[in-house]
Amino acid sequence: MRMRIKKHGAERLAACGNLLLERPAVPFASSRDVIGEDLPLWLEIGCGKGDFACGMAEKHPDVCFVALERISNVMVNAVEKAAARADNRPDRLRFAVADAATLTEWFAPRDTPNAG
Ligand SMILES: C[S@@+](CC[C@H](N)C(=O)[O-])C[C@H]1O[C@@H](n2cnc3c(N)ncnc32)[C@H](O)[C@@H]1O
Repeated sequence: MRMRIKKHGAERLAACGNLLLERPAVPFASSRDVIGEDLPLWLEIGCGKGDFACGMAEKHPDVCFVALERISNVMVNAVEKAAARADNRPDRLRFAVADAATLTEWFAPRDTPNAG
């Protein structure tokens, strides 16, 4: 299926910049590096239009939830959806335009799975 290029996609993403992560110079080691708080760090790879990410962030407000999507044109939908929930959006939801292939540039490996 061919995707239509979103008009002003870059500007629209930039307008939600507070929700968007930049690729860090040093990979994030924990949620503290992402949002400044020590919390469980959950990751969704391929968040698409963000329905799952927004739902999870709302259900689990005490989790730092990072949603990755490789197509910026698709990410526009996700961040705008999250931003539109301004009143009930947990502050701990973040998005990154990134391919899972670059995951180790974003997150440092852990010795044990993050179970909490
Ligand atoms: C079916 S959608 C996900 C929908 C989302 N989980 C939800 O329920 O709201 C799958 C998404 O994964 C993204 N994707 C696929 N491979 C990826 C990769 N290697 N890195 C990042 N995103 C990827 C696609 O671009 C697509 O937007």
